[in-house]
Amino acid sequence: MFVVPADAYDRYVGRYSPALAHELVRYAGVNAGDRALDVGCGPGALTVALVGMLGAEHVAAADPSEPFVAACRQRNPGVRVELAPAEALPFADGEFDHVLSQLVVNFLTDAAAGVAEMRRVARPGGVITACTWDYAEGMTLIRTFFDAAIALDPGAIEHDEGRRMRYCQPDELRDLWSAAGLSDVDVQPLTVRATYESFDDLWSPLEFGVGPAGAYLLSLDLARRAALRDELRLRLGVSDAPFELAARAWAATGRVP
Ligand SMILES: C[S@@+](CC[C@H](N)C(=O)[O-])C[C@H]1O[C@@H](n2cnc3c(N)ncnc32)[C@H](O)[C@@H]1O
Repeated sequence: MFVVPADAYDRYVGRYSPALAHELVRYAGVNAGDRALDVGCGPGALTVALVGMLGAEHVAAADPSEPFVAACRQRNPGVRVELAPAEALPFADGEFDHVLSQLVVNFLTDAAAGVAEMRRVARPGGVITACTWDYAEGMTLIRTFFDAAIALDPGAIEHDEGRRMRYCQPDELRDLWSAAGLSDVDVQPLTVRATYESFDDLWSPLEFGVGPAGAYLLSLDLARRAALRDELRLRLGVSDAPFELAARAWAATGRVP
């Protein structure tokens, strides 16, 4: 799902990532002089935001996707970017003041192990902050995609990120953070917007198979893909003119005791 060209990701959900990174860094309370780690960095939108605030020498990043690690390195010269999953971070205990993770916790094979690793590499008093899309309601693009898909094919419900993704609602995120032994746990919504030049600008990156929605699309034959394209366009109510969509994420933060 994420071994895809960074450009395709950027034009799909990555379109929202710079604005979301700005909100996440603000919510986490990152300050000049802090050392920060971006877990599941993807092509590096959050890493870029952290470097802008802290400088490359104070920022590190990790992701298990080779093309994304290559893109993140290219976009962030001087940053230590490791090819590694959250569940086995190649960093020492207590190295960071802030560990952040944007749109990743729901993809972890073992979320509890991933958050435990984030906690291990943060210093005592350090802050762990992450966010995930509200696929069930507030992430307009993906919510509308699966509503359209299910209307045409009830079996698509099995692929619906709003139903099958964990840690995308406030209570479940809060429980994950509390179970990791973090203190001062807080959960808040973060809403951002992205601009599209036209419906084609929204649709074309999906055909690279990025994420669960793209993977579902590629499982369809050409006629069913075309029907889904028409249904999505109808439900979004957009045309060949530019438009904006809103996307809501849930963010959790907590402090290492
Ligand atoms: C939706 S993307 C988010 C990328 C980036 N953080 C952003 O905000 O644009 C999900 C990312 O999670 C990464 N990922 C998947 N499994 C992972 C794991 N076990 N540990 C860390 N990252 C993982 C993927 O490679 C991908 O880069």
